[in-house]
This record gives sequence, C-alpha cells and structure tokens, in this order.
Amino acid sequence: MSEAAAILFGEEEIRRRVRELGEAITRDYADHPPVLITMLKGGVVFLADLIRCIDLPLRVDFMSISSYGRGSEATGGVVRILKDLDHDIGNDHVLIVEDIVDTGLTLSYLMTALQARNPASLHICALLDKSARRITPLHIRYRGFECPDQFVVGYGLDDQERYRNLPFILGVQDPATASAAVDAYLAGMMMQSGTGPST
Ligand code: IMP
Ligand code: MG
Repeated sequence: MSEAAAILFGEEEIRRRVRELGEAITRDYADHPPVLITMLKGGVVFLADLIRCIDLPLRVDFMSISSYGRGSEATGGVVRILKDLDHDIGNDHVLIVEDIVDTGLTLSYLMTALQARNPASLHICALLDKSARRITPLHIRYRGFECPDQFVVGYGLDDQERYRNLPFILGVQDPATASAAVDAYLAGMMMQSGTGPST
C-alpha cells in the first residue's frame, strides 16, 4: 500500500463474509442457541450485522472493559471491567464477538475470566485476525479476514473514537498520523463522488 490510507475491506466484501459467518454459526449452534457477547464499543457494528445473519433464537450481552489507558501490551492484557454482563452465563453456549484480535492479550484474559463462570462452551468469532502480532495463542473458531499488520479503522474500529461509522475498513500506514490520513482519504472520496459519510 503506497497511500497513507487505503481501503482494505470494502462494504460488499464485508457483507458477504458476515453472511457466511452467520450461516456457519446457524449450522453449528442449531441444537444449542448461543449467547453472543461483545466488548463495547468496537464490536457493536459487526455484532449488529452478524446477528441478522444468524437464524436462531440467540441472546446478546455486553461488557465494557478498560485497558488502563496504555494498551494491552503494557498491561499484559489485564483489564478492568467497567460494565459486566447483565446475565449469568453458567451452562450457556457463549460466543465472544470481537472486531479484531491483535496481540490477543485482552481476549485471553477475558476468556479466562469468562471460563471461570462455567459456560457450557466458549468460543471466539472475530471479524479481523491480525495474526502477525499475536502474543497469546488463541483459537478463533469463526474468523472473518486475515488482517495485515497495519492500524485499521472503520466498521466499528476507531482512532480516538472516530470512524466507527465507516461502512468499510481502511488501513493506515502510520498510526501516529491516522486521523490526518483517513480525513484526507475521505475528502478524496467525497470529491470523486460528490457525497460521502461524515465522521
Ligand atoms: P489486543 O489485546 O492487542 O488483541 O487488542 C485489543 C483491542 O485493541 C482490540 O479489541 C481493539 O479494540 C483494539 N485494536 C487493536 N488493533 C486495532 C486497530 O488496528 N485499530 C483499532 N483498534 C485496534
Ligand atoms: Mg475490541
């Protein structure tokens, strides 16, 4: 990628892949409808699309976590739970729905915490797998796309809380100048089409 920001996964490509994941989950959980758990806020866009592609009487629940402000690598993935699940997951078939698995530190910490609540099963569904950066090995049962080792925004993923509403996913060259690169890319898109999403 030579530009400072460029589309990695387009709207239609994401839609198609989310549909395939939903169909696989529908098949695998036909006898035991799952509870889908998402960490606020990055996973909510993916979750909202995914559940409409799953033809089962599923439930959803949310957690909000804080990584103590310095990112998962500085803390080893230890997070503070700001909002816990509304319901007990004992004996439930739990599927964690994540936007992206990067180092895997946050998710492996959470997997251990959720496993201690004795769910009947516990698996991961992640839209993006930045596997080149993995520190803690994790089994991702449902994976949308392999993600290059780049900072990405859009479709739930943010840079300083912006760009979650983009319907596609952009990769940026330099995370330090992500917002300038993304703003320039979006401005270019608007000039070409005469319209565009406002963020
Ligand atoms: P991990 O603990 O390193 O696997 O990542 C924890 C969280 O960091 C993810 O759930 C995302 O919310 C966030 N994250 C990781 N990579 C990116 C990225 O490229 N863009 C935006 N957020 C990211
Ligand atoms: Mg996340």
